[in-house]
Amino acid sequence: MDKKYKLLVLTGGGDCPGLNAVIRGIAKRARKEKEWEVFGSIEAFNGIFSHPVDLMKLNRKATAGIHVRGGTILKTTNKGNPMKFPVTQPDGSITFVDRTSELAERIKSLGFDAVINIGGDGSQRISQALFQKGLNIIGVPKTIDNDLSATDMTFGFQTAVQIATDSFDKLVTTAESHHRVMIMEVMGRDAGWIALHTAIAGGAEVCIIPEIPYDINKIVERINERYIDGRGFVNIVISEGAKPKDGTVTSSKGEKGSEHVRLGGVAYQLSKQLKDAGCKAEIRETVLGHVQRGGSPIAFDRVLATVFGVYAFEMVLGKKFGQMVSYRNNQVTSVTLEEATKAPHFVSPDHYLVQAAKGLNISFGD
Ligand code: F6P
Repeated sequence: MDKKYKLLVLTGGGDCPGLNAVIRGIAKRARKEKEWEVFGSIEAFNGIFSHPVDLMKLNRKATAGIHVRGGTILKTTNKGNPMKFPVTQPDGSITFVDRTSELAERIKSLGFDAVINIGGDGSQRISQALFQKGLNIIGVPKTIDNDLSATDMTFGFQTAVQIATDSFDKLVTTAESHHRVMIMEVMGRDAGWIALHTAIAGGAEVCIIPEIPYDINKIVERINERYIDGRGFVNIVISEGAKPKDGTVTSSKGEKGSEHVRLGGVAYQLSKQLKDAGCKAEIRETVLGHVQRGGSPIAFDRVLATVFGVYAFEMVLGKKFGQMVSYRNNQVTSVTLEEATKAPHFVSPDHYLVQAAKGLNISFGD
């Protein structure tokens, strides 16, 4: 039978383990519907903006076995937001312009009947804007930060937690040998989920998250408890977006064209503050960085991402446009993009995991 319908798939924002599993899930499910053809846009929407367009046909050859691979075969960017598209001016400065109308028209004129946009909160805001411009679009949530409120879990998060926990375990043995304080900085932007899970899984003494600003003296107190007679060791996990009480986050300016500041380096700031506050123990810092986003997704994330892909294509068949796939109460379901992009999902200080951690004598420095 002749192909009658065309689907466009893309990945936007930072990458995350499981993206390829979603792409494969969509493509495999679509292959069962003989009249559908699936294409990927290379590097988020930039593939559509380029002349000629940069597309990849997501046939069997392109998607076979990719669910085990990290990254995204479609590439991605966090600098191509069509709502605030960076344009370099003659003097080298950057201004941002809204290109969503042009983008929606271009996608339609290329003959696409539907679009699946796999991305985090920023990407889903773009999905919502394009839906309002008349595009048949569906969102699939992704982020290692797990900070979307409309889904209980995003794929990639559990893999990031596993990588952080494996690294933490390694730091524990060397901390013990040297009687040191080890500070491990993890990602998560303004959400402390990765740090909180890692602290409990790894058995940290101190867990510092953005949602609970820390008092340095409280952390020194907890460290001192562990250094009876100069012995002992301490393992701290700190989220990159953490800040002291009355302080600010540790950040640097993002690259040209990026909308975000870059977080990172809070481990070194904490180390200095601990010394200034009288901590006598030797301190070492580890900034885990992008290893948390790299490599193969663990089985849980492969399953979640694959199911999201299959479900997203079924939403296309059911014409559930303007909605995002969501995982709630052990069920895969959908929510409107409007609902999905309303508010981020942060750790509440009375969350059961924070309470459990406190029950284990993990200090949050509060
Ligand atoms: O949102 C995912 C994330 O990995 C954050 O945890 C981190 O702050 C950010 O992306 C890093 O972005 P980039 O890849 O641009 O350095």
